[in-house]
Amino acid sequence: MRLWAMSDLHLELTRGWDLPSGEARPDFDVLIVAGDLIPRMERGVAWLRERVPDRPVIYVAGNHEPYGQDIDIDLEKAKAAAAGTNVHVLQNETVRIDDVTFAGATLWTDFALNGDAHRAMITAGDRMNDFKKIRISNYEQRFLPHHALTRHFKSVAFLKSELRKPRREGRLVVVTHHAPVRQQSEAPRPENERALDPAYRSDLTRLMVSGSDDEGGLLRPADLWLYGHTHESFDAVIGETTRVVSNSKGYGPWPGHQRSWDNPHFDEKLIIEI
Ligand SMILES: [Fe+2]
Ligand SMILES: [Fe+2]
Repeated sequence: MRLWAMSDLHLELTRGWDLPSGEARPDFDVLIVAGDLIPRMERGVAWLRERVPDRPVIYVAGNHEPYGQDIDIDLEKAKAAAAGTNVHVLQNETVRIDDVTFAGATLWTDFALNGDAHRAMITAGDRMNDFKKIRISNYEQRFLPHHALTRHFKSVAFLKSELRKPRREGRLVVVTHHAPVRQQSEAPRPENERALDPAYRSDLTRLMVSGSDDEGGLLRPADLWLYGHTHESFDAVIGETTRVVSNSKGYGPWPGHQRSWDNPHFDEKLIIEI
């Protein structure tokens, strides 16, 4: 199966770029968008349906989809817009296409990457738009780091249960917005930048090795794990069998700056064969 995989298209901060179409479109079976397509997820569903009416599309919400919205109402609207179409909006849910199961979740993070989750949550709450621009509880409350943490645990429980299901010859593709691995580059970065890493990534490599990581049963790693959010390109096999890939565009291009976007390595035609 040929997967056309990307994330962080950020249409709200993009001018003069569109999804390759016609002859420029790569040969693919399923398009996967791992979040941060556009705020208001139902608009993302409409955008995808317009461009890809003829193949299945897997669409997972990023942190930007619910900006200016109630996070749960935004998802409901997106699911209503996608119901009965070729676009599959997945939040702690799976869809099976041929012999491949796709498991999708925004994921959020455990804030534990630097060893002090409490401190990381305070920093993220102070500095990140996620915890200013997203509402919860029918718009009545602000979405806060502890809400993100609760959702992270729920998604990890969902993913574990999927990783434990027998799948014989079938394959499993996990799609999340937040990163499941630490930053791999050794390049030193300023402390104030590193302090936000726990809001972008969790170390979930324990889900990429077989065996039971607790009493819940035998875990079989996924074949592929796609993520976004960090606006980077990444492609490596982690643990035993899990190919972990990120192909994020990020913000841009901007008027007057042709084809310049956050991640210079973004490949708008990236195909992953599984
Ligand atoms: Fe993004
Ligand atoms: Fe993001």
